Amino acid sequence: MKISDPISAYFEKKSGFFPQATGYYSKTFNELEGMYENEGEFQNMLPKWNNKVVYEVWEHRSSKNNGDLVFGTSVMKPGRVGEEFFLTRGHQHQKARCAETYFCLSGTGIILMESPDGEIKALDLGTDQLVYVPPLWFHRSINIGDSELITLFTYNSDAGQNYEIIKKRGGMRKRVVRKDSGNWTLVANKKYLLS
Ligand SMILES: [Fe+2]
Repeated sequence: MKISDPISAYFEKKSGFFPQATGYYSKTFNELEGMYENEGEFQNMLPKWNNKVVYEVWEHRSSKNNGDLVFGTSVMKPGRVGEEFFLTRGHQHQKARCAETYFCLSGTGIILMESPDGEIKALDLGTDQLVYVPPLWFHRSINIGDSELITLFTYNSDAGQNYEIIKKRGGMRKRVVRKDSGNWTLVANKKYLLS
């Protein structure tokens, strides 16, 4: 087996640009249908947002070999559907015992996590803060600020992402919404299918 080469990586903190990335993907607004509570507002926003990118990911993957790591940046636009802040699809790792870290390069976010038995943790991810996602926890990023949320993530390169497992549960138990004061709060997800 060929062993991976060490590399030194550069990240542009304000844009998330990562010139050494070996992979890229993005999610557009219309691909996020069904994720938000307020379907009517989603449909209202659709003509304007349609195929605009909500979040994009640049990653560096040396190999898929056990023990190697993936790292890179995620760039998420600010915005809300109704009162609910923009979010990523969320997942548990295919290899559920693989953990992950998120370090915030700029912006203001939340990492929303749910344990397999439905316990919720919503941790602040402000600039220069790190959130550790332990094994087994479902996780998604949420941009609660008015600028792009730029995070630097690292996880095992053979971890994989299981998006279906969250879809089957009707999302996560709680949603992150704006409070009148401009802050955020958690509310119950009415589409959640587990009791
Ligand atoms: Fe992950």
